[in-house]
Amino acid sequence: MYVKIASTTQSVLNKFPLKDKSNLIQILQAVQEKDDYLSPEAVVRISEHLSVSRSYIYGVATFYSQFKFGPPGRHSIRICLGTACHVQGGDFLSNALQSEIDITPGETTEDGKFDLERVACLGCCALAPVVMIDNIIYSRMSVIKLKEMLDRYE
Ligand code: FES
Repeated sequence: MYVKIASTTQSVLNKFPLKDKSNLIQILQAVQEKDDYLSPEAVVRISEHLSVSRSYIYGVATFYSQFKFGPPGRHSIRICLGTACHVQGGDFLSNALQSEIDITPGETTEDGKFDLERVACLGCCALAPVVMIDNIIYSRMSVIKLKEMLDRYE
């Protein structure tokens, strides 16, 4: 796996010979498109190529919800933190969810069961707060409903 990541990262970096850190977002997007996520090995290679620290790269990448730092889980959870969901307790729900599965947005659980992403709106604000798992929308979520729902997934 490491060899594959190293070679796909290098093939992306070869397209950015100028080593200009303003290319960082484009490089991260291209690497994620090929590998499905940004591995620690890929971040090291990008850091060396652009001569920027790994913490700088993580600082930029974690600002954007599109970047993932682990391989996709068997089930993808999207928690909505848009205005309607925020007003209905989305942040509280998000914190409870992160605590329950012990990951933050962009990560995948150790057992590979879930990955987590925060989104700005799932398009069903009247049902807030909303969580989506794979392609199923769960509406008017509470912490208790959330825990019951997570148990249904293998
Ligand atoms: S703000 Fe959450 S679904 Fe629109």
